[in-house]
Amino acid sequence: MVRSPEPHREHLFPWVKPYYAEPLVLSQGEGVWVRDKEGKEYLDFFAGILTTSVGHCHPDVVSAVEAQMRRLGHTSTLYVTEQQVAAAEQLSRLSPGDLNRSAFTNSGTEANETAVAAACIHTGRSEIIALRYAYSGRSALTTDLTGHASWRPLPTQTVGVKHARAPYVYRSPLGDGATEEENTDFFIDDLVEVIETTTSGRPAALLAETILGVAGFVVPPSGYLTRAAEVIRSYGGLFISDEVQTGFGRTGGAWFGIEHSDVVPDIMVMAKGIASGFPVGATIATDEIAESWSSSSISTFGGNPVCMAAAVATMTVMEEEDVPARSAERGDQVRRALDALDTEFDWIGEVRGMGLMQAMELVEDPSTKEPSPRRAQAVLEAAKDEGLLVGLGGRHGNVVRMGPSMLITAEEVDDAMARLARACRAADGTP
Ligand SMILES: Cc1ncc(COP(=O)(O)O)c(C=O)c1O
Repeated sequence: MVRSPEPHREHLFPWVKPYYAEPLVLSQGEGVWVRDKEGKEYLDFFAGILTTSVGHCHPDVVSAVEAQMRRLGHTSTLYVTEQQVAAAEQLSRLSPGDLNRSAFTNSGTEANETAVAAACIHTGRSEIIALRYAYSGRSALTTDLTGHASWRPLPTQTVGVKHARAPYVYRSPLGDGATEEENTDFFIDDLVEVIETTTSGRPAALLAETILGVAGFVVPPSGYLTRAAEVIRSYGGLFISDEVQTGFGRTGGAWFGIEHSDVVPDIMVMAKGIASGFPVGATIATDEIAESWSSSSISTFGGNPVCMAAAVATMTVMEEEDVPARSAERGDQVRRALDALDTEFDWIGEVRGMGLMQAMELVEDPSTKEPSPRRAQAVLEAAKDEGLLVGLGGRHGNVVRMGPSMLITAEEVDDAMARLARACRAADGTP
């Protein structure tokens, strides 16, 4: 029973920082709807950070989990379970190219750790290139991979991580006049320069999100990811695609964000939406890369049968419902509504994203592009008053991020966009 108005402050670490001046205590969910403890309903347009991919408490996921928990709740990786094998088979079928061997863990953080370890073991090298503005997790290595000081509480602990420029066209030093192609050239040149000037020239891997999520849904310019993979491979390194946010149909028209580019990664990292809220991280690699890792490793909870049952049920619903197609269609609908808001409010600097991963970067003035975190906070709070949950992101916390369940209906999208428009009008009056 929650008693204190700020219950999280009493017994949790201060980094547990819920959204809102008055934090929301959620107690129930169904589909895209959640309720707080007073019974007020909210349309969840952020899905617990793009995670309840087929909605809250999807009946197929709930019954798979219930049944598995009654049958067998835990084994560790010392024993084989049918659920883990089934999840690995399904993942291999959905993944591009010859990505075939999976390692299951409990989070995106661990999945990235596993990917980097696999790359270092396979190449016999230890330098990793990451992107500025990226977010990779909360462990020692993954905070080093992360490209935001605000998400790196400790000084750098692991040697060998170097950051190339994020392919962030809206804030590109080339300015608004440059073409997409010129931007791609510029960011690729930077990647080459980082490898040649800050590493031994023998990097193990480049780790890149296909859309930089925490950065505020930064979509790389066309051709960037394909060429970035070519660059890292030309130096003998592997290309790791972090699909923690962009995986499983989220970007519309494809299962994984990288499939919009003409390249198959050597290793792919997934978490969040894979099990619609159950803690699952997955790292998938080619047979050859996976085979390099012959030394011992275990995961007590990785591949837990209940989590695997949730993952299989979620992926099955996703396939039956064709979420990549749904995401493309509903994403276009969201985008049209956001573009209309963009013409109404000059403090919306840019609308961007793909599929059901859409964002608005808010600025004080479109010509200076000075970030406006205060306006973003105002939109977040006003949306809550309207019964709509959205997220924030960006280096300055000035990007409003949206990523609902991919089973959201057209009517629910219209409803969400009407609420967001009212929230923007309320925020427009904010001093
Ligand atoms: C792209 C990306 N990678 C990795 C992670 C870390 O995942 P987790 O929070 O499950 O450890 C996140 C979390 O937001 C993420 O967005």
